Amino acid sequence: MSSQLLSKAVAIDGPAASGKTTIGFMLANRINYLFLDTGCMYRAVTLAVLQQGMQIDDEESVVKLTQKLELGIEPAGILGRDDGRLYTVLIGGQDVTWELRSNDVDVNVSQISSYAGVRSNLVSRQRAIGVRGQVVMVGRDIGTVVLPDAPLKLYIVASAEERARRRWLEREDRNDNTTYEQNLADIIRRDQFDGNRAHSPMRPADDAIIIDTTEKKLDAIIEEILALDYFEQQGSL
Ligand code: CDP
Repeated sequence: MSSQLLSKAVAIDGPAASGKTTIGFMLANRINYLFLDTGCMYRAVTLAVLQQGMQIDDEESVVKLTQKLELGIEPAGILGRDDGRLYTVLIGGQDVTWELRSNDVDVNVSQISSYAGVRSNLVSRQRAIGVRGQVVMVGRDIGTVVLPDAPLKLYIVASAEERARRRWLEREDRNDNTTYEQNLADIIRRDQFDGNRAHSPMRPADDAIIIDTTEKKLDAIIEEILALDYFEQQGSL
């Protein structure tokens, strides 16, 4: 991939509900970069598998479905929806943005994401977007695998309790009733699965800057990121 184009890519990784998607979205808006949340792509494959009644452990069929999946991601404004979404996800033209956040998807997404064939297909789609440059890309393996040459890599963390609290409150806002304990258990389980899988396990790149969001306000975190050398060097952003 051209290093010139990648001179303007920001890779953001981190565990479940660490705040990386909100931070990536706010940062992209501030610096006028494209925003891509790769987690929604793994969630979309998982939803499609569930909708088709396919067995989660039927790896071969899941990979074939991924290769054929007609997946669209659009800025929220395009469909004129103003319901708190950061972007719209379409499968075969159908808006599935909120279905991707269901508990069923949360429970199954890590297993689907562990399949090499699923990852290679989605990583190619992510790189095709990355080569356009000026992108903030968020996930688990962006700094290590998808855009290893990105000049700025952030790894966003927060305590498991704080992350569970945030995810639980997000769901309460959508009238999706779960308990704090359920969210905590899911987050711990997913982190373990994502961090220990054979293909592209979640981990910070060696050159990633670790940002702990546990007791910080979002605006302060964005200012902290914008004060990093990378942005000083970009000057005219
Ligand atoms: O929002 P949250 O942090 O809960 O999760 P997400 O970013 O939407 O990602 C959902 C799941 O997709 C993760 O638990 C991983 O299993 C998988 N994923 C991945 O394997 N690689 C990525 N680049 C992004 C997500």
